[in-house]
Amino acid sequence: MYKMARTIVSLTTNVFLLLFSLALSVKYEPNWDSLDKRPLPEWYDASKVGIFIHWGVFSVPSFRSEWFWWDWQGAKDKDVIAFMQENYRPDFTYADFAPKFTSEFFNPEQWADIFQASGAQNKTSIHFGLYHSLFEWFHPLYLQDKANKFTTQNFVKSKTLPELYEIVNQYKPDVIWSDGDWEALDTYWNSTEFIAWLYNESPVKDTVVTNDRWGVGVMCKHGGFLTCSDRFNPGKLQKRKWENAMTIDKQSWGYRRNAPLSDYLTMDELIQTLVETVSCGGNILINVGPTHDGRIPPVFEERLRQLGSWLKINGEAIYNTDPWMSHQNDTLTPNVWYTTPVFGPANILYAIVLSSSIPRGTTLTLGAPRVDNQATVTLFGYNGTLSYKPVPGGGITINIPNMSVKDAPPTWAWVFRIINIKNKPVH
Ligand SMILES: *[C@@H]1O[C@H](CO)[C@@H](O)[C@H](O)[C@H]1NC(C)=O
Ligand SMILES: *[C@@H]1O[C@H](CO)[C@@H](O)[C@H](O)[C@H]1NC(C)=O
Ligand SMILES: *[C@@H]1O[C@H](CO)[C@@H](O)[C@H](O)[C@H]1NC(C)=O
Ligand SMILES: *[C@@H]1O[C@H](CO)[C@@H](O)[C@H](O)[C@H]1NC(C)=O
Ligand SMILES: *[C@@H]1O[C@H](CO)[C@@H](O)[C@H](O)[C@H]1NC(C)=O
Repeated sequence: MYKMARTIVSLTTNVFLLLFSLALSVKYEPNWDSLDKRPLPEWYDASKVGIFIHWGVFSVPSFRSEWFWWDWQGAKDKDVIAFMQENYRPDFTYADFAPKFTSEFFNPEQWADIFQASGAQNKTSIHFGLYHSLFEWFHPLYLQDKANKFTTQNFVKSKTLPELYEIVNQYKPDVIWSDGDWEALDTYWNSTEFIAWLYNESPVKDTVVTNDRWGVGVMCKHGGFLTCSDRFNPGKLQKRKWENAMTIDKQSWGYRRNAPLSDYLTMDELIQTLVETVSCGGNILINVGPTHDGRIPPVFEERLRQLGSWLKINGEAIYNTDPWMSHQNDTLTPNVWYTTPVFGPANILYAIVLSSSIPRGTTLTLGAPRVDNQATVTLFGYNGTLSYKPVPGGGITINIPNMSVKDAPPTWAWVFRIINIKNKPVH
């Protein structure tokens, strides 16, 4: 009797819960019109900075790029062929690299520590995502479907889709970063069916975000956030949320043993890319390529830690910000980019001055912000408020304090916070 009562109570609860969730949750249909209507989970826009890792068998030859196998046996690139001829026995195959993917120095704590230090959120709030390539260069089922002009879906049915469902169910990622989409239509990949499941039913349906690489013609049009191209950095405001997926090694996502220092972005370049991206409404996804034995090379580590040290001082102008609706960059001084806080009063403006425009003299004049005599100007990393003068007709001249080197903020970029600007609208 007791047991039965419990069952009824629990049945009733289930009915209530079901009705409740039907009332609240939207059901997405497997078409882009419907899928594009889903709001992005808030964590994504707020966090701004992500780390991308390309680590795989290509990290063993660590030559040319993560496209090594294709460059060697698909494109038959002469440099890659020569590299193989000079260094490996004649019958060496790509699969022979696999046992050398040894990862003996892989230390997840150390990786987590570096990523935390980079400012890509912190250990407790870090979100985990997975890259997934739809196509494969040499998979026999894929080549067969391709030969059939993608009128058959054997590869999708027996490989791609089971793998996508498995990685979501098994690892519960908050990002599915899809790629390898450009040879076949989304209808071949059954992309909208998969994404509808991801948004409606998957274990991460409320937190997951995805990108736009889901079939020919889809990129830059449909999906969660738009990536448009590798290293997309349009320099102007975009209508939809977008992401700049870029690399610290300018030429490759996978580790390259022969990359000279000049192939790595400098800190000035990295901060510039971050700032331009965020001011125009994007997130940045910064790629590092670990080695086959599990190390993050010190040059990557240093860039990430320095980025974190800059964000520790200036993060208020990056995290939880919106683009400024009036201007993305200044109208007078080049290399000055603007953001505004999502929360708090609507009259706060961050002016991020990149290294090349950091004032050498005693003043900095900006054309875009309008102020009267009631504004407050501070420089992140410097203690105290700064005096200024409104420029008649619009603009502000900020007096730069005479700082000792030890009192000055890091010079990859300076951030001025101007409270009480008069421009309309702000957001
Ligand atoms: C980690 O992030 C949370 C939320 O963003 C913040 O409250 C906390 O201070 C951060 N901790 C460190 C060590 O950065
Ligand atoms: C793809 O979706 C269509 C339409 O829902 C369905 O008929 C087909 O069986 C699906 N193909 C695969 C491989 O899942
Ligand atoms: C603002 O940025 C845009 C896009 O990068 C550029 O074309 C323009 O010249 C910049 N303005 C100034 C004053 O530098
Ligand atoms: C900042 O300035 C205030 C007032 O001048 C002073 O009390 C405080 O100790 C200073 N803080 C730092 C970190 O220098
Ligand atoms: C800046 O401060 C230093 C040391 O306090 C002083 O010697 C120098 O004259 C000052 N420069 C200006 C332009 O005020």
